[in-house]
Formats: sequence, C-alpha cells, structure tokens
Amino acid sequence: MVKTKKNLLITGGAGFIGSHVVRLFVNKYPEYHIVNLDKLTYAGNLENLSDITFKSNYEFVKGDIVGRKFISELFGHYRFDGVIHLAAESHVDRSIKNPLPFIDTNIIGTANLLGAAVDTWQKSTDKHIFYHISTDEVYGSLDEGGFFTETTPYDPQSPYSASKAGSDHFVRAYQNTYGLSVIISNCSNNYGPNQFPEKLIPLFINNIKNEKPLPVYGKGENIRDWLYVEDHARAIDLVYHQGNVGETYSIGGFNEWKNLDLVKLLCKIMDSQLDRKPGSSAELITFVTDRAGHDLRYAIDSSKITQLLGWNPSLQFEQGIEQTVNWYLQNTDWLENVTSGTYQNYYKEQYG
Ligand code: NAD
Ligand code: TYD
Repeated sequence: MVKTKKNLLITGGAGFIGSHVVRLFVNKYPEYHIVNLDKLTYAGNLENLSDITFKSNYEFVKGDIVGRKFISELFGHYRFDGVIHLAAESHVDRSIKNPLPFIDTNIIGTANLLGAAVDTWQKSTDKHIFYHISTDEVYGSLDEGGFFTETTPYDPQSPYSASKAGSDHFVRAYQNTYGLSVIISNCSNNYGPNQFPEKLIPLFINNIKNEKPLPVYGKGENIRDWLYVEDHARAIDLVYHQGNVGETYSIGGFNEWKNLDLVKLLCKIMDSQLDRKPGSSAELITFVTDRAGHDLRYAIDSSKITQLLGWNPSLQFEQGIEQTVNWYLQNTDWLENVTSGTYQNYYKEQYG
C-alpha cells in the first residue's frame, strides 16, 4: 500500500468507548488514515459510527485480534504508524460466567498486536506508539479510604480484571524486552451514549423506561468513580499525542458514587423526564444476590494527567447523567436494536 497519510489503527472502535475515540480522531485529524478493526461481537455496533462512516480518512475492517496470521497480514498491508488498542471483552459478569473468551481476546489478542507491532516497527527509525487502554480494576478493590495511582500494585480480583492485568503486563514486557514504544492508561468506570445495556447505567435506564425491576447487587454499597465517555476520549487523544513513552496515566473523574445513591439519582431524573409520579421509578429497586467476588470500591487519583497534560473532566456528573438519560430516551431505535435477539437470552441467564 502506498502511504500518503499516517495510518493509525484503533481496535474495538465499534464498541462503547472505541466509537467515541474513533469519532474524535476522524473529525479532528484529517491528516490520519484511521483504520477501525473490530470483530463486531455482541458489544460492537457500527450504528455507533453512522455519522462518520463515509469520511474519507476512515476505514472499517472486520476482524478478530485473536487471529495471529490475520493480524500479521493486516500490519504488513497498512504498516501502521500507531496503535490505540481498545478491543476487549469488557463485562465482569460475563467473565464470571465464562472467563475463556477474556483470556483469548484480552491476553492472546493483545499479544498478537504487540508481536505484529514489534515485527513491523523494528527496523524503522520513525516514531511509533502502541497505546494500550486499560482499567483501574487491575488494582483490585479499595476500602473506604485512599485512591489508585500509577504506582498502585496490581491485585486483580475478577477474571475480567485478571485478563486486563495480564495484557498490561505483556505490554510492559514487550517494551522491556523488544524496545517497543508503549503507553498505558488505566481509567475508571465510563458512562454516556452508546454503552451496551449490560453495564449498570444503561441497563437501569432501559429497565426504568420499561418499568422492569432494577437488580441492585448486594446492598448497593459498592462504590465506583464515574467518568463521562467523551472526557475519556479527550484524555486518550492527549496521552496519544503528548504522553511520554513508557509511562502510565491514571484517568478518573474524582466522582465517587455508592451504587444505591446513583440508582436513586437515575430514578429521580427518569421520573422527571418521563413525567412519572416522583418516587415511582425507585419502587422498581430490587436487591438481588451479590456478584461473586464483588470489588467494594474503585477510585482514581488522576492528578498526574492533570498536572502533566492539563486534562480535566469537563462535565459535572449530574449534567452528564442527565445528558446520558436523554440520549437513551431519544435513541429508541438504537436501544431496541441492541436489546432484541440474543440480549434477551443474556438477560434471562443473568437475572432469571
Ligand atoms: P465494549 O465491550 O463496549 O467494546 C469492545 C469492542 O471490542 C467491541 O466493539 C467488540 O466488538 C470489540 N472486540 C471484542 N473482542 C474482539 C476481538 N477478539 N477482536 C476484535 N474486536 C473485538 O468495551 P468498552 O467499554 O468500550 O471498553 C473499551 C476498552 O476500554 C476495553 O479495553 C476496556 O477494558 C477498557 N475500559 C473500559 C471501561 C468502561 O467503563 N467501559 C473503563 C476503563 C477501561
Ligand atoms: P458495571 O457497570 O458492571 O461495571 P464494573 O463492574 O466494571 O464496575 O457495574 C457497576 C456497579 O454496579 C458494580 O458495583 C456492580 C453493580 N451492578 C448492579 O448492582 N446490578 C447490575 O445489574 C449491574 C450490571 C451492576
């Protein structure tokens, strides 16, 4: 392939966070040729990108990062200048039911990409970056106090977080062993438009809309640190372009919510948006058996990226959550498309 532009590979670009990253890069960097590689699992949805699909600097490739030969040929063809790697199996509950796809995609798939990047870039003097998108869940669970930082020891507790921790270790090992230029960021829980309704916020919005029970695990006392997805995408842009090779960046919202308080806030906003009697959605709250090995608390100290790269979350949570609720209420086709078919089987198996 004759290259006239820098080729950037974004994996998992049809998923929740990936689609926001692809949109930001396609619109902001006409000088890049952006290749979105995605297997289109249940979580991948090209509808997420319908507004940028026809842009000339964008190309979609359907494929599986677990296929070593396929990945090697893809790198041979495009000679990518950089990689932003988001493709993953991403839902903790699914990893508890069946960890194996998490090991395949998150560990073996990542190792395939790393190997292809080493092979492609080893004789080149150009600047290349392999940027791996990871999660704060690799650090395990916090008690009431303290924050995760870039130096917190790894202590993953679920099959999902163990597979992401494994992938992070391989990324660092490829830098140490083969001299690959890598960056990792570990982010807290994201929310916003286009998130698949298996995760807490979109699942509960959909259930409130349909007046179905809201299955709160345990007593609803677990705490998560929520960040609006577009703020994460902006952080990824900054880290990719201005981050230091070999470094790790923690990204979070300084925005901790106990699950039950968050669910009550959602109920209040939905009552108001749907013109329902105040308090009626909260009646749907149902306490169910706790998730196995449920991490109590995640909270990120993101001062490094703020101090070094000038990043800050742009939205107050109350504003972001209201915007998110409105997006799901307005995009009924999107919601109906993703909740038909196999979603119903997943829902029955998970919630009875
Ligand atoms: P998602 O499940 O919405 O999307 C994952 C995407 O990866 C989907 O489009 C899917 O089709 C694709 N994919 C899965 N397996 C693949 C394979 N074998 N080959 C090619 N493509 C494949 O996930 P998300 O929430 O957007 O998360 C994206 C990344 O960010 C993940 O690496 C995740 O670990 C990380 N992360 C997520 C959060 C969060 O709150 N969602 C927080 C921190 C980090
Ligand atoms: P989730 O969105 O699955 O993200 P993660 O487990 O990666 O943090 O869950 C967020 C929190 O909400 C977590 O503490 C589990 C809880 N939860 C429920 O109480 N009920 C549910 O049906 C789901 C999906 C999550």
